[in-house]
Amino acid sequence: MKTLFAHRGMSSLAPENTLSAFSLVPQYGLDWIECDVDILADGTIVVSHDDTLDRCTDRSGSLYDLTKEDLQDIDAGSWFSDEYIGERLPTFSDFITLVNTLKINVNVEIKSCTAGWEMSDKLIDGVLAELKNLNTTSDLLVSCFNPLVLAEFKRRSPRTSVACLFSREMLLEGDWLSVLQVCKADAINVDDTGLTKDQVIEMKSHGYAVNVYTVNHLGRANQLFNWGVDGVFTDVGQTFPSRYRHQNQKK
Ligand code: G3P
Ligand code: MG
Repeated sequence: MKTLFAHRGMSSLAPENTLSAFSLVPQYGLDWIECDVDILADGTIVVSHDDTLDRCTDRSGSLYDLTKEDLQDIDAGSWFSDEYIGERLPTFSDFITLVNTLKINVNVEIKSCTAGWEMSDKLIDGVLAELKNLNTTSDLLVSCFNPLVLAEFKRRSPRTSVACLFSREMLLEGDWLSVLQVCKADAINVDDTGLTKDQVIEMKSHGYAVNVYTVNHLGRANQLFNWGVDGVFTDVGQTFPSRYRHQNQKK
């Protein structure tokens, strides 16, 4: 199976990591959503890639200074297009409710919380609490760039499949195998930049699924799949041919 992950939802068609971007995913025949989650000051888990509001909302400032009530006044859509004026930053609870409606698989990326370990600890617990509401018909993969966070998540939820995320720089350190082993990972989610066939073959030889981010060119996706890659994260799932899509619709 060649898996396409809708990276932050259909993020070239709607503002990334919003309910609108996620709602579009099944319409384009992708079976997996990727989202990023972080935590607010009051412990609310939210779906956001950045730990600040600056890039994807009409406000500036840190997520770690906000509470759930503040989300009502933040516009996460008008930066993208007029069609999405008034779009909200979703809570993770909102996201799970939507996913249960869409009947789709999810890769939840826990962000490497920059507010310190106390908040990272709450983030792990908050994610676990919300995931209890995810329908068991959805496949689930939890990933993180921070192996300490991921190993702790896996310790608290041993049955959940997890993937270690590696940037190009992290991969160059060369100790990726022991990181995967300590995290009891099922998969390695790795940066596309500079990734070689030999690296993919070696990762696969250790029994790991290999997923590559972020792949927006069809030729590169084809090359990666021909090397044995299992999945690619893409912002442009709508451009992929039908052989990659409508593979595993759960409806
Ligand atoms: O999970 C794959 C990819 O999303 C990791 O990078 O920065 O887009 O969250 P980033
Ligand atoms: Mg991500």
